[in-house]
Amino acid sequence: MLPGNVAGRTAILLALGLGGLALRAFAGVEERADALLAQMTLAEKIGQMVQVDSAALKDKADVKKYFLGSVLSGGGSDPADNSPATWKKLADEFQTQALQTRLKIPLLYGIDAVHGNNNVEGAVIFPHHIGLGATHNAQLVERAERVTADEVAGIGIRWAFAPCIAVSQDSRWGRSYESYGSSPELVGELGAAAVRGFQGAALGRNSVLACAKHFAGDGGTVNGKDQGDTVCDEATFRKMFVAPYEPSIQAGVGSIMVSYNSWNGVKLHGHKHLLTEVLKGELGFKGFLISDWAAIDQLGADYRTDIELSINAGLDMIMIPAEIGTPHNYAEFIADLTDLVNLGKVPPARIDDAVRRILTVKLAMGVFENPRTDPALTAKIGSPEHRAVARECVRESLVLLKNEQQVLPLKKNLKRIQVVGRAADDLGIQCGGWTISWQGATGNVTPGGTTILEAIRQTVGPECVVKYSADGSGLETADAVIVVVGEMPYAEMKGDRTDLQLAAADQALIKQARQNGAPVTTLLLSGRPLILGEALAASDAFVAAWLPGTEGRGVADVLFGDYKPTGKLSRPWPNEAASASTETKPGAKSAFPFGFGLSYDEGGRNGSGQTKTALAK
Ligand code: BGC
Ligand code: BGC
Repeated sequence: MLPGNVAGRTAILLALGLGGLALRAFAGVEERADALLAQMTLAEKIGQMVQVDSAALKDKADVKKYFLGSVLSGGGSDPADNSPATWKKLADEFQTQALQTRLKIPLLYGIDAVHGNNNVEGAVIFPHHIGLGATHNAQLVERAERVTADEVAGIGIRWAFAPCIAVSQDSRWGRSYESYGSSPELVGELGAAAVRGFQGAALGRNSVLACAKHFAGDGGTVNGKDQGDTVCDEATFRKMFVAPYEPSIQAGVGSIMVSYNSWNGVKLHGHKHLLTEVLKGELGFKGFLISDWAAIDQLGADYRTDIELSINAGLDMIMIPAEIGTPHNYAEFIADLTDLVNLGKVPPARIDDAVRRILTVKLAMGVFENPRTDPALTAKIGSPEHRAVARECVRESLVLLKNEQQVLPLKKNLKRIQVVGRAADDLGIQCGGWTISWQGATGNVTPGGTTILEAIRQTVGPECVVKYSADGSGLETADAVIVVVGEMPYAEMKGDRTDLQLAAADQALIKQARQNGAPVTTLLLSGRPLILGEALAASDAFVAAWLPGTEGRGVADVLFGDYKPTGKLSRPWPNEAASASTETKPGAKSAFPFGFGLSYDEGGRNGSGQTKTALAK
């Protein structure tokens, strides 16, 4: 086992010669990047630094006209016919434009494939990071992201804005589920595994470019406020929020996204010390830095100042969501940055550094030789093999918090099981935010998945009758009751909470389910731990299932004992007395500590629940 502390681990990796991977990834292409750079005009260089949202690009020919280096599709920018074939066509059309430019520099298309290729209809949806964190299984995370990479390449795209290596400290933050957990070591290790999954051992023609995000401090803001301020001294900031990037850099991550948040009042998008001195200098990051969605717009008094501050701080590519004719669009960005260079406010060497980094990544990925992805991958989107990997992730992500009288595993030959709760039969709820749409939605959001209710029905024996009621009625003759409760879908900006109580209606449903005397198993679907109140006492067994995604079968696999639970908390679970903001601070009151999780051979609530990985402590 590698030492838990990142410095120690890095030293060992370096000693093993693995530290050279990051550097080797770019060897041989740097000369080619320089040769290309030497031929480029200022307009061609600045174009490479621009990433425009597909919905803002009303005219695809603008890719050619402005020499754009990149296009993205944000969470709300799916094509109207959201099918893999349409996506592939769209990607090919953008690429065709780029290949018609003088120097034929291919573009990189980016997408938020943050739990599977989640924008795309029929793609397999994996558990969100919080669930993957509970697996404590780096090899599994790597395999999951390899599958995601293939589903991304299947729509013609070569860049995923993942993994998120936020170290979430306060569950009130609406992006807590995008974080693997509260431990910088765990986050660092799983983040690097994800990078290897997307990119392979080094950037090459089968890589999907990974993007570690959001640098840095996104999970540490005061009161868990999204885009807020992380307040702490530099030593703490480095240990908690910068160190988790080191394993990803060692794994050769080709891009890093800068964060909306501030550190001690200074926004990261303008933070030259952290971006240029620490990340690119000290940590030796060789890839390029991409801004977050319109994030530079928050920096200065006007757009020109925003551009000057962010580019001089070290940003290499800017994500621009606005179309021409609206404020802060890409044509304005290009005109302003051109002026800033001509006026001597942005040094030409800074532009060259940015473009060299972008070209180096493109060359290392072989996009010049293979500007289009393998069409055979399109047919594999949502395939049974891919779903099997997601199901394995679901299985390993479940954390058994309580199992009084060994209620679990349930027998498959019970006469009658009553399943209650709206969340039991709702794919949208079990997938959460960033699923088909930006904020996610309830209901049958994507084809091909299995709800928890359907999975239970597919798992029990022929003699077992499974009945369902969303409202908790029909309990009378049940031999066992399964209650599924949880949070409605949400994502960044809208998901912050001021309290973490399980909803009153969910509490009431669990108490109601108890009334006829049959044992009650509660499944919680949520993007974070919630304060359970009486719900825990009212349940005989209690499982934290996080946001498992489309593969509900993984839940049934564990409920009915085909697999034992192995998931362990990747963050402490706050109790009533703990104010959420202190939940991960030493001495804070937790209902269950970091690393807690029962299995079937460990008895009830007081089983050891200790994890076997060195990292969980
Ligand atoms: C989010 C990023 C995301 C980007 C593009 C931003 O608002 O913070 O995580 O990658 O949008 O959709
Ligand atoms: C986009 C997201 C983006 C968000 C941030 C949404 O409209 O679809 O991708 O992250 O805006 O403002």
